[in-house]
Amino acid sequence: MRVLVTGGAGFIGTNFVLRTIETRPDVEVTVLDALTYAGNADNLSSVAERITFVRGDVADAETVDRLVGENDVVVHFAAESHNDVSLRNPEPFVRTNLVGTYTILEAVRRHGRRLHHISTDEVYGDLELDDPARFTTSTPYNPSSPYSSTKAGSDLLVRAWVRSFGVDATISNCSNNYGPYQHIEKFIPRQITNVLSDIRPKLYGAGRNVRDWIHVDDHNDAVWTIIEKGRTSETYLIGADGERDNLTIVGLILELSGRPADWFDHVTDRAGHDLRYAIDSSKLREELGWRPRYTDIRAGLAQTIDWYRDNESWWRPAKAAVEARYAEAGQ
Ligand code: NAD
Ligand code: DAU
Repeated sequence: MRVLVTGGAGFIGTNFVLRTIETRPDVEVTVLDALTYAGNADNLSSVAERITFVRGDVADAETVDRLVGENDVVVHFAAESHNDVSLRNPEPFVRTNLVGTYTILEAVRRHGRRLHHISTDEVYGDLELDDPARFTTSTPYNPSSPYSSTKAGSDLLVRAWVRSFGVDATISNCSNNYGPYQHIEKFIPRQITNVLSDIRPKLYGAGRNVRDWIHVDDHNDAVWTIIEKGRTSETYLIGADGERDNLTIVGLILELSGRPADWFDHVTDRAGHDLRYAIDSSKLREELGWRPRYTDIRAGLAQTIDWYRDNESWWRPAKAAVEARYAEAGQ
């Protein structure tokens, strides 16, 4: 199988490519990545001989058309992915997440290829803290931020191309990922690298917001399960029953790092901050037999802390600039 992975030099895409090379020797991988601030080609240096890497934009129709034509399956990770950045400058989110997905869809349609579109639980908006409900594939779309609204729009484009043009596509909406290679602008790696830099962790608002954490390898195993066993046109929700509020996550990072439990700051809240996400992944589990392997978030976090401690040269060059941008926003 020849697989085109867009966004393969970002957090989840890197882990997907490394794991695919490790576990599926018959798969030929081509990565298409624009190498924005969030992408790093060095992530893939250990498999450079085994993959084809193309630096390019998913909104560039000519490049996309050629690469889609040369592959059997497209796994579309490429996106602008950070809510806080989308609040400062939404333009690249519209271009990459909407125009980029449209460009991929048109090429997939022309060449009759299979697409798996990677999306997020944020398309569903948020839930109250005490609501027993979780997101399902029937939950109405209700995105809150420029990021999540462009991801919601990209999902709707995929659904329309499936219905109107018969494109062979599946969609997955996953909850918050953690693990190695995540950009340090994101919550967990920001707090881990803060502690490693002697900076107090920063919690937005009261820290009561809940995210449904999943290890990135569990997400990527689910993506392969959908590619191999999923029914065309279907949407699958990916989640590992990992609901924790942000205070709890910071508490665990402090404990695992040997710091006092109150060694953190409350900072300015995010505008429009979604309160709680929670995924009902029973369709994926019952129909396709997927199960998460990382069910102990404490152990997963400990492993992630070790990775950032052992790979300081990977994140250190970006740290001062990321923190300076947050400081400007009072965060
Ligand atoms: P990331 O920001 O770490 O990586 C995005 C990658 O896409 C980078 O390598 C970047 O260079 C590349 N890219 C950006 N614009 C591009 C363009 N125009 N053309 C080609 N490449 C481009 O993001 P991530 O956290 O790895 O997320 C990957 C995907 O998973 C996204 O679609 C995101 O919406 C989705 N997702 C993420 C999470 C999460 O918790 N991180 C959860 C659910 C879904
Ligand atoms: O739910 C899936 C989504 O998860 C993905 O679609 C996004 O690409 C991914 O970035 C993530 O979005 P969030 O906005 O939930 O993740 P983030 O890491 O930015 O923040 C997680 C929570 O932590 C959120 O409630 C905001 C809070 N936070 C974040 C930062 C950076 C803090 O309290 N302090 C911080 O410094």
